[in-house]
Amino acid sequence: MEFKELTEARRSVRKYADKEVTRELVEEIIKAAQEAPSWKNQETSKYYCVLSKEKREQIRTTCFPSFNEQRCMNAALIVTAFEKDNVGFDDKGEPINELGNGWGCYDLGLHNMLFMLKAKEMGLDTLVMGIRDAEKLRAALGIPDSEQIGAVLALGYADEEPKRPNRREINDIAKFY
Ligand SMILES: Cc1cc2nc3c(=O)[nH]c(=O)nc-3n(C[C@H](O)[C@H](O)[C@H](O)COP(=O)(O)O)c2cc1C
Repeated sequence: MEFKELTEARRSVRKYADKEVTRELVEEIIKAAQEAPSWKNQETSKYYCVLSKEKREQIRTTCFPSFNEQRCMNAALIVTAFEKDNVGFDDKGEPINELGNGWGCYDLGLHNMLFMLKAKEMGLDTLVMGIRDAEKLRAALGIPDSEQIGAVLALGYADEEPKRPNRREINDIAKFY
C-alpha cells in the first residue's frame, strides 16, 4: 500500500471477527515497530502479547470498562509498556528536562504508530485503548513495577468499516514562521 492510502485506511476498529491472530504475524508487526526512532536507540518499549483465547477472555473481562470490553472482543490484546526512569534520565537518575518519563511514553507512541500501520498493511486492524486498569493488567501478566503500562492495542480482523472521523484544519494545529 502507498503511504497515503495506508495512513487513511487505518482507522480505530471496535468490532472484530472471530479469527485468531498468530504469533508469527505479531512478531512481524513488532519487528516493523522496532524501526521507530527511540531515545539513544535504547528501545525501552515492551509488548505483552495475549493471543490465546482463554487468556484473552480473562484479560478482556477483568481489565477494561464494559465499553472497551465489548470493543476488543475476539481481538488479540497487546499490552504496551516502557521501562520507567530510563530514557529522559541522566546517570544519577535525575530527569534531563521537564518531560521526565514522558520521553519513554513518547518512544512507545512512536513504536505503536508503526505497529498499527504495519498491522494495517498486513490486513489487520487495531484499536488503541487508553482506558484500562493498569494494575489489574500488571498482576495478570506479571509486568514488573519497573515498567509503566501504556495503551493496550486490540489487534484483529475487522468486522466493521468505520468512517474516517474529521480532522482539524491545518491552521488549527500548525504555525509557520
Ligand atoms: C492514546 C489514545 C487512547 C485511546 N483510548 C481509546 C479507548 O480507550 N477506547 C476507544 O474506543 N478508543 C480509544 N482511542 C481511539 C480514538 O478515539 C481514535 O483514535 C480517534 O477517535 C480517531 O479515530 P481514528 O483512530 O479512526 O482515526 C484512543 C486513542 C489514543 C491515541
